[in-house]
Amino acid sequence: MRGAANGAAFLAGLLTGGATAALALGRETARMRAACLATAAETERSRRREDELMARMRALDAAKTDFMATVSHELRTPLTSISGYVELLRDAEPDELSDAQRRMLEVIARNARRLRELIEDILTLSRIESGGFRSEPGEVDLAQVVERAITEIGPVAAKASVGLHAEVRGPLPLRGDGVQLDRVLANLLGNAVKFTPAAGTVTVRAAHDAGEAVLVVADTGMGIPESEQKALFVRFFRATNAIRRAVPGTGLGLAICRKIVDNHGGTIAVASAENMGTTVTVRLPAS
Ligand SMILES: Nc1ncnc2c1ncn2[C@@H]1O[C@H](COP(=O)(O)OP(=O)(O)OP(=O)(O)O)[C@@H](O)[C@H]1O
Ligand SMILES: [Mg+2]
Repeated sequence: MRGAANGAAFLAGLLTGGATAALALGRETARMRAACLATAAETERSRRREDELMARMRALDAAKTDFMATVSHELRTPLTSISGYVELLRDAEPDELSDAQRRMLEVIARNARRLRELIEDILTLSRIESGGFRSEPGEVDLAQVVERAITEIGPVAAKASVGLHAEVRGPLPLRGDGVQLDRVLANLLGNAVKFTPAAGTVTVRAAHDAGEAVLVVADTGMGIPESEQKALFVRFFRATNAIRRAVPGTGLGLAICRKIVDNHGGTIAVASAENMGTTVTVRLPAS
């Protein structure tokens, strides 16, 4: 009899204990579910905040690109007028202007040209950023592109007493945008000449190699400090040694070159050592 009573008490205890445990488990599950819901809500809120921030940044970037394009465009008109009048004055009769006045005119003309190049670079950059900068592929001979660039830069190199050598094995056909490739060559050769002091040399090599057209522009100039080389293709970047020596420039050329080379499915790499020289290598798929 007592055994049966004990058994019943044991069973009752077990049931009460089980019910308490089940209740505790239920509460814990509910707490965890609430915590999960709160976490999901927080994740959703931060995702929405991130989306909003991204949208605001994109709008800001688009507005900045738009602003750059508008200002550059508006600057062109007065600049064209300045350049036009400078040309008229340069054409004046020999006795109409003194030597000093002619020298001043040259300074105005040089700076107007620099300003025009800067405006063109900013316009190109804003076209790149708005996605409107595409290459128009055609048949291009890289050897001719190099030849044109050398003809252009020749007098500048001679004036700076920088030796200019070309080792080109043409023709080097490839599918590309001739105007844009002219621009790459002009900037790379322009950089090589302007960052190389008198008595230095600039060498341009172009050849086919394993299905690629390879262009190398090497100089014996001031080089770029190693710690700054990773920023080379960032727009408006200028190395500290170039700034210190007051070599003119805006820091847009290489950013534009990189974009053009990307558009052609190629690569651009720079190897440089300060006070030793710089070598830029461009590889483009050959046709
Ligand atoms: N061949 C080089 N030798 C030494 N430094 C160079 C050379 N090429 C580029 N650099 C460094 O990289 C910077 C960026 O070059 P980039 O061509 O973009 O600008 P820039 O020549 O200064 O101005 P821009 O090309 O817009 O007229 C230069 O200011 C210079 O500090
Ligand atoms: Mg440049």
